[in-house]
Amino acid sequence: MRKEAVPSTAPFTATTVGKKLFLCFETKPFVVTLLALTLVMLLWNFPPYYQNLSTTRPCSAAPLASVVAAASTSLFSTNASLPYTATPAGEKKYYSDPKVKPRDPNKRVFEAYGNAAALFVQMGAYRGGPTTFAVVGLASKPIHVFGRPWYKCEWISNNGSSFRAKAYKMLPDWGYGRVYTVVVVNCTFPVNPNQDNLGGKLMINAYYGESPRKYERFTALEETPGSYNAAKYRPPFQYEYLYCGSSLYGNLSADRMREWMAYHAWFFGASSHFVFHDAGGVSPEVRAALEPWVRAGRATIQDIRDQEQFDGYYYNQFLVVNDCLHRYRHAANWTFYFDVDEYIYLPDGNTLESVLNEFSAYTQFTIEQNPMSSLLCLNDSSQQYSRQWGFEKLLFRESRTGIRRDRKYAIQAKNAFATGVHMSENVIGKTLHKTETKIRYYHYHNTITVHQELCREYLPPSAKNNVTWFNKLPYVYDDNMKKLANTIKEFEHKTIGDLGSL
Ligand SMILES: *[C@@H]1O[C@H](CO)[C@@H](O)[C@H](O)[C@H]1NC(C)=O
Ligand SMILES: *[C@@H]1O[C@H](CO)[C@@H](O)[C@H](O)[C@H]1NC(C)=O
Ligand SMILES: *[C@@H]1O[C@H](CO)[C@@H](O)[C@H](O)[C@H]1NC(C)=O
Ligand SMILES: *[C@@H]1O[C@H](CO)[C@@H](O)[C@H](O)[C@H]1NC(C)=O
Ligand SMILES: *[C@@H]1O[C@H](CO)[C@@H](O)[C@H](O)[C@H]1NC(C)=O
Ligand SMILES: *[C@@H]1O[C@H](CO)[C@@H](O)[C@H](O)[C@H]1NC(C)=O
Ligand SMILES: *[C@@H]1O[C@H](CO)[C@@H](O)[C@H](O)[C@H]1NC(C)=O
Repeated sequence: MRKEAVPSTAPFTATTVGKKLFLCFETKPFVVTLLALTLVMLLWNFPPYYQNLSTTRPCSAAPLASVVAAASTSLFSTNASLPYTATPAGEKKYYSDPKVKPRDPNKRVFEAYGNAAALFVQMGAYRGGPTTFAVVGLASKPIHVFGRPWYKCEWISNNGSSFRAKAYKMLPDWGYGRVYTVVVVNCTFPVNPNQDNLGGKLMINAYYGESPRKYERFTALEETPGSYNAAKYRPPFQYEYLYCGSSLYGNLSADRMREWMAYHAWFFGASSHFVFHDAGGVSPEVRAALEPWVRAGRATIQDIRDQEQFDGYYYNQFLVVNDCLHRYRHAANWTFYFDVDEYIYLPDGNTLESVLNEFSAYTQFTIEQNPMSSLLCLNDSSQQYSRQWGFEKLLFRESRTGIRRDRKYAIQAKNAFATGVHMSENVIGKTLHKTETKIRYYHYHNTITVHQELCREYLPPSAKNNVTWFNKLPYVYDDNMKKLANTIKEFEHKTIGDLGSL
């Protein structure tokens, strides 16, 4: 994937491609026939990309697929899987050019085979305002830890002009990434490079290290003629509230997902939208639970299962939240980040609107949790627990105070440049932490993948008025969420109709 810098007077030409192709031909005629066909298709449709194919690229088809994948999203209609599936199973070999043997017997050569981690893996690229863009992706972690890779942005207008911009990179999961780390590249131009709205594209140069000679160049984003709309980047926004969910994985309970969705659709109201990211957790049952909300235009499910190929932190959740931040940066006043076993709650009769009005001078506020037991229920024969929702019957709150617990948060995304899971550190403006009397969240840890009955330990009725110690932790009775259950069920029924069960 490496590339030496080309003098601007000698751009890559089709002959370079031809030579490389020929070389491939000798080794793998079958794959290459297909590859060549695809190449021709590619060259035909997307002239700029031939540059990417021209260097020491292995002849296997897989990297070609990645080139297509790395191109802007509008290219996804191309059948990127074609070259991949054409390779017989177990035969994805990567070749390197054989090196010329040196004459001096003491001159040692170092033969490199393959690339273990990509220089950059693009997930999304978004315009973030009249003069600014964000490119969100992954990059090989060791080169960012031990090297100094950098980026350059260039806008190529359809009228032929080109503009350069300084790029700065943020590494919002610093320390958590594994093979890959998350990178947000911010490209900010002195003026809108697409002022005349003729369209154009944002090109990124991604450098391997400090040297400006070794880099990859790719199209991050294209704007078609007339598509730039300045109004999109100022208020009023489409929604008041947006939910950015992190990667969903594991065997999730469809019942819990249904309850979560109904509760929050009610909580945030009609001017809100929910974005879920399916990293394998959206089974057919979970999809069926969310589908009515998707059809009603209240929710979107993004399929991110391919993230599996890139070893990041926990199903690449940092990548996902940053993609969501920039994808929906100007979609809502406030963007919320929390999990599907967490329920936002307003104590003491506050309304969401009044609370957020009060917080509006802050870019970001964090939310404290009420940790709930995942298995304690009251021994109360008047309750039919098997028919109740999770938050209707799990009523014991762990009551230790003065210990540090994870927090969740909401931001005015227009002021954020990159984000994390528990808060964002790349924002302009103030952060508010003292929010616990205004807004909190109930956290039902370890319930979301439970498929059998949640009530697994019963406490005597006296536990309602006493502190109960269970597994060396103190619990108190808290039925705030239970009090809302009927309202939520009615709301769900009214909004999406009868789901049948429960
Ligand atoms: C992509 O290729 C697969 C077979 O490899 C085929 O089933 C599918 O229809 C193709 N899709 C497009 C958009 O050409
Ligand atoms: C192309 O468009 C840009 C901005 O949209 C403008 O600044 C530039 O002058 C234009 N160039 C030509 C050759 O028209
Ligand atoms: C969202 O922003 C609009 C326009 O700036 C404002 O009128 C509205 O009150 C805001 N809503 C919330 C909940 O902050
Ligand atoms: C998920 O859990 C359910 C209920 O326990 C079980 O029937 C199903 O087979 C599980 N699915 C997977 C993929 O493990
Ligand atoms: C619940 O209470 C009843 C008596 O009220 C008792 O017989 C039963 O054993 C209790 N169940 C559990 C699981 O504690
Ligand atoms: C990029 O950074 C600048 C500040 O340096 C900021 O004003 C702009 O909003 C950022 N753009 C994005 C898309 O985050
Ligand atoms: C629990 O509360 C009841 C009254 O609600 C009281 O009679 C009982 O002694 C208390 N038990 C403990 C262990 O404090």
